[in-house]
Amino acid sequence: MSRKPFIAGNWKMNMTVETGTKLIEELKPLVKNADCDVCLCVPAILIPAMVKAAEGSNIHIGAENVHWAASGAYTGEISTGMLKEYGVKYVIIGHSERRQYFGETDESVNKRTLAALDAGLTPIVCVGELLEERESGKTNEVLDRQLKVGLNGIEDVSKVVIAYEPVWAIGTGKTATDAQAQETIAYIRKKIGELFCPKCAEKVVIQYGGSMNAGNCKGLMAQPDIDGGLIGGASLKTDFATIVNFNK
Ligand code: PGA
Repeated sequence: MSRKPFIAGNWKMNMTVETGTKLIEELKPLVKNADCDVCLCVPAILIPAMVKAAEGSNIHIGAENVHWAASGAYTGEISTGMLKEYGVKYVIIGHSERRQYFGETDESVNKRTLAALDAGLTPIVCVGELLEERESGKTNEVLDRQLKVGLNGIEDVSKVVIAYEPVWAIGTGKTATDAQAQETIAYIRKKIGELFCPKCAEKVVIQYGGSMNAGNCKGLMAQPDIDGGLIGGASLKTDFATIVNFNK
């Protein structure tokens, strides 16, 4: 089963209309021959300007979060309809920073994921263990819970992208080794096979995230179960293009 590689950036709370537009202008010619799907997930307020900047290119603009309700009294949140108005296709859900600082739970991840799918958006559902969880041998247990609850009730799991991001590797410069990332992502695929069906699991695009950069992307992308990357720091510069062109 061949899965199309997918490289997505996560700008987090960085960039402005000016710096973001400039970066996208620089990236456009560099990524135009990519063999993978390319997306930059940007702060909600930058979406309109970045969609405009990326117009006519193969760079999709995504969001960093989405609420489950269609509308209503949810101060500070964004709905799927608002994202779709700008042609957004991808949305990150349950990033570890949202889990850590903003009270995101597996249950709220599940609600957001179901709402995104319902609206025809592709959720990039983030999972991953903390350092103490890895060190105490709890990685698989944590992933089991995040996947079971986070993906509960999904009809067609092949419409979901999973980003495996070991929390200890995010923004730390400490990447998981190729073997560690492969082993854990293969485990995630197996688990999805158990929760849904093995054939469906073969169709799910699973990214690695956590200090992925221009230097280590080739080794990670060469692993059989790693289908892409969710890139934080390196998506704020033209290095992102090197990652997109990992196979060139
Ligand atoms: P990083 O972030 O590449 O800066 O480690 C990845 C992420 O948080 O998605």
